[in-house]
Amino acid sequence: MNQNLQNILKLVEESEALSAEQKKSVADWIKEVDKTITVTEFKLDRTEKVKKTTAILLEETIQELELKRKAVQETNDALHKSLEELKATQQQLIQSEKMASLGELTAGIAHEIQNPLNFVNNFSEVSSELIDEMTEELKKGNMEDAQAIANEIKMSLEKITVHGKRADGIVKSMLQHSRTSTGKKEPTDINALADEYLRLAYHGMRAKDKIFNSAMKTDFDESIGLVKIISQDIGRVVLNLITNAFYAVNEKKKLNLNGYEPTVTVTTKKTGNKVEIIVKDNGIGIPQKALDKIFQPFFTTKPTGQGTGLGLSLSYDIVTKSHGGEIKVDTREGEYTCFSIILPV
Ligand SMILES: Nc1ncnc2c1ncn2[C@@H]1O[C@H](COP(=O)(O)OP(=O)(O)OP(=O)(O)O)[C@@H](O)[C@H]1O
Ligand SMILES: [Mg+2]
Repeated sequence: MNQNLQNILKLVEESEALSAEQKKSVADWIKEVDKTITVTEFKLDRTEKVKKTTAILLEETIQELELKRKAVQETNDALHKSLEELKATQQQLIQSEKMASLGELTAGIAHEIQNPLNFVNNFSEVSSELIDEMTEELKKGNMEDAQAIANEIKMSLEKITVHGKRADGIVKSMLQHSRTSTGKKEPTDINALADEYLRLAYHGMRAKDKIFNSAMKTDFDESIGLVKIISQDIGRVVLNLITNAFYAVNEKKKLNLNGYEPTVTVTTKKTGNKVEIIVKDNGIGIPQKALDKIFQPFFTTKPTGQGTGLGLSLSYDIVTKSHGGEIKVDTREGEYTCFSIILPV
């Protein structure tokens, strides 16, 4: 029993002022109080223990959480690093895709430059001969003939300028193609662009495969005028669509079907405030199960090493993201494929 209570109990027992009955009842109260105190002490003690255990548990939980936080942080860092690496790889792939298509173009470009170069060489030879002739006439005093020859020389020089500029333009577009896009939209003659890439793609195919052949048809809407586009990007889209089309007709030709005539048609159209560039081929077509995947990066049915499968996915991004347009496909397996690029004007 609590010491103070014992003292009180003793005092009560020794007291003469209280009757025996009163003493007993006070003693009972004191015992009752003592019991209550003991119970309270016990409860307090237990609470204290619970508190301690809880504190320990809490400490452990905090430590565990800290460990987990660190693990999450590490995973996060690792993920971040992989993402950076992936981005870098993707960038490299895009660049090598550009270089590959530049390689495809080189043969076409060489062929395209050869034509204006021949003109320049011929007309400069002609001009030189004409000057000799003119000198002769001048010596003889035939001013009228000399004047006529001078006019011819001027015409010849004008042709040299035209073809020189054409070669210049081809080289410039080749350089542009290899460079990263400046991302600037400029008024562009879409028909000229489509025509140019059609021929470049054709000669590119011919350079790789001497026996490749396909009819090329164009149906250009002359009312289109200039359209604001990032021309080198749309150029790449058109080039990829045409290259895919040539590939598809070539694959079908290998089947040696009777009377098959490989044909690729490029059409342009203006409808309302939209311009459409349509590339159609009568090649192998796209099977239904591949159709859902053709715009996915790296999806290709070409043999390993021949295609990266980035062509259509890049085209999709260029048309939709940079130009706010649409790219649609219509196809029948074994019969035809038709891609349309729809651009807002
Ligand atoms: N005109 C088409 N006819 C038939 N199949 C096509 C045509 N265009 C695309 N495809 C299919 O879509 C796939 C993906 O085309 P995409 O241009 O993205 O890549 P790729 O041509 O295979 O490779 P890359 O363009 O990098 O050379 C092709 O492999 C082919 O299976
Ligand atoms: Mg392609």
